[in-house]
Amino acid sequence: MEPVEIRPGIFWVGVNDRTTDLFEGLWPLPYGVSYNAYLVVGKRIALIDSAKSHYAEELLHNIAQVVDPARLDYLVVNHMEPDHSGALPRLRSVAPQAEILATPPALPMLASLYGLTARVRGVGDGEPLDLGGKTLVFHHIPFVHWPETMATYETTARVLFSGDAFGGFRALDGALFADQVDFALYESEALRYFSNIVGMQSQAVLRAVDKLQGLALEVIAPAHGLIWRTDPERIVKLYAKWAKNEGQPGVALVFGSMYGETRKMAEAVAQGVRDSGLAVSVLDASRIHASFLIQESWRFAGLILGSPTYDTGVLPPVEHLLRLLERKRLRNRVVGVFGSFSWRGGARAKLEEKVRELGWELVGSLEFSGAPTPEDLRRGRELGRAVAARVKQIHVGADSHA
Ligand code: FEO
Repeated sequence: MEPVEIRPGIFWVGVNDRTTDLFEGLWPLPYGVSYNAYLVVGKRIALIDSAKSHYAEELLHNIAQVVDPARLDYLVVNHMEPDHSGALPRLRSVAPQAEILATPPALPMLASLYGLTARVRGVGDGEPLDLGGKTLVFHHIPFVHWPETMATYETTARVLFSGDAFGGFRALDGALFADQVDFALYESEALRYFSNIVGMQSQAVLRAVDKLQGLALEVIAPAHGLIWRTDPERIVKLYAKWAKNEGQPGVALVFGSMYGETRKMAEAVAQGVRDSGLAVSVLDASRIHASFLIQESWRFAGLILGSPTYDTGVLPPVEHLLRLLERKRLRNRVVGVFGSFSWRGGARAKLEEKVRELGWELVGSLEFSGAPTPEDLRRGRELGRAVAARVKQIHVGADSHA
């Protein structure tokens, strides 16, 4: 994409990445991702964030359409993860005089990742930088998503460059601003990004939201995804809701099945949820990447897990999801579990144990052997109804229909 002037003297010069298969080597990117970088042009010029190293030349090309990259005075590093900092060595080679500005905890990372130690300065929380006609203020927001993260606020145009906060997966499809697109296409990818990448740091996200809400915000310009110039509160509220682990009324039903019998039970349980008028997202853990399972588990207040007994425990893809949800610190879930077995149980007990360990509310559970009988399926449907009823009880008055 060509550079876009988002406010007078402030330009998006980022890049779309549509070729990386796995973000962080973990999370699929079927719709790509953008690395948003911004030029703030006063008498002096600052570049805020950069891009993954593979995209350094494209970033430089974009900068050159606005200013000569050799004229950059400052390279502002909101976040050290290499999707935003990887192009720094190349930028330094083009603009050797440019001073790198980051939080103090970022300095050892600049040294260890890139050997950058000269003309590097740690900035204080709330410290201003006068660019001549434009002023930046640095706000430390540790652990959104690493310990060194900050957001940078431009005071004349009231633009917040928020780093990983308020961003999302999905490359920019020809438009930068949230008001130019059907946000529904982006919302799931924003939730997937949140739950996969920064969900574990939800408390830090809430602290950042509190801190940044004191600023007059006209534009939120994150390091990934859409820019918010109308109703920036919308993405702030969404992030706050996700960080509070407030799932929407509905159920994510994640199951594994070796020969189809546990799947039959999953279908019955799903019907039970629907009987109660709630949305249910049925997900086969063996076929759907854990990234999307985490997203749907984060989306809904209800979670139902089903697994056959495998090696006396839970089928590995379901177990994998549970491990990830534990690491991501998903909380406040209303849960049901079901297990199956051929000669000896085990999955149900292990699922129950894990649910209790995670502090989730276990509403019901069942186990069956072999192929589910009509009576087993009736119990499954009841399980779905019971979980849905409890979710509805907690979310009184919420719109519960899919
Ligand atoms: Fe977009 Fe934590 O890097």
